[in-house]
Amino acid sequence: MRLHLNENTAGCSPAVLQALQRLGRCDVGLYPDYDTAHEAVAGHLGVPADHVLLTNGLDEGILAAAAAACRDRADGVPEALGVAPAFDMYEVSTTAIGGRMVTVPLNGEFELSADDIRAALTPRTRIVFLANPHNPSGRKIPLDILRGLAADVAPALLFADEAYADFAGETLIDPATLAALPNLVVGRTFSKAYGLAGLRAGAVVAAPATLDPMRKVVPPYSLNAWAAAALPVAIEDRAYRDWYLEQAATSRTLLADACVRLGVRTWPSAANFILVRVGNAAAVVGELAARGVRVRDRSAEAGCEQCIRITAGIVEDTRRAIAALEEVLCAAR
Ligand SMILES: Cc1ncc(COP(=O)(O)O)c(C=O)c1O
Repeated sequence: MRLHLNENTAGCSPAVLQALQRLGRCDVGLYPDYDTAHEAVAGHLGVPADHVLLTNGLDEGILAAAAAACRDRADGVPEALGVAPAFDMYEVSTTAIGGRMVTVPLNGEFELSADDIRAALTPRTRIVFLANPHNPSGRKIPLDILRGLAADVAPALLFADEAYADFAGETLIDPATLAALPNLVVGRTFSKAYGLAGLRAGAVVAAPATLDPMRKVVPPYSLNAWAAAALPVAIEDRAYRDWYLEQAATSRTLLADACVRLGVRTWPSAANFILVRVGNAAAVVGELAARGVRVRDRSAEAGCEQCIRITAGIVEDTRRAIAALEEVLCAAR
């Protein structure tokens, strides 16, 4: 059981698979056409099509935003600002394009301090990366705080990474917010709630002029034809998406309840995973792997000492994972 990468443990909608099976030799032979996928994503997010840039997974959206934001080197090495711990692609992308990642620590509850972010801004700050919900804790950042921060960090971009927003049920995306905050960029992915991680499909959403520099970074055919064909079908199959969101929510509750029973610390998560302080994380990860359950050792990250992260996917998997966790933790006592 792969519970280490926050994937969709049920896979994609069966309708997506059928659509992919209908693709033929010409779809392989021709450059992909994005019009239908583009319209479907924009409609789904409730914004005009010119507010959306499709990307090869949100990873590419993060790289494109970092590259576009850090082009200006007039004041020296450009900086990206974020929190620690955080999703590692913010730092990987920033350093890959010659920028410097600056981080401020979260407190023990993994709560964001907007004051700490404001205090860490420098004239070289070009972009601020914040995930909502946060990875690896799953904690939510109130949307008002993010809107306020976007205004405060301008002209730097505020990149709100909403990879897990489907699970949290709230988003910063709406045309009025994007118009009022032209430095706000929102990242979305179809890897998680929609189960398209293997196809690589994400989107960056912002006011059109804000997106322009990112459009110049993303190659013209970044999504392949299979991802483009899958997107409208995945979006259309709401019943499947809603079923999966329910499974993940139930799994989250089951995992949180198990943590209480086992007397291990966790934090309220709005995403499809939870962070658990288990003690010797490496040993627990090894013991769970021996029982066929892969979870992620996050203990090396700031504030995540002794912690593992467990994906909350379909309930059946979660029950088996909890049984294995109970066995491992009880044996260790
Ligand atoms: C916070 C966050 N942002 C972005 C991504 C990347 O998503 P994608 O699969 O679309 O590249 C992930 C994947 O785990 C993530 O956790």
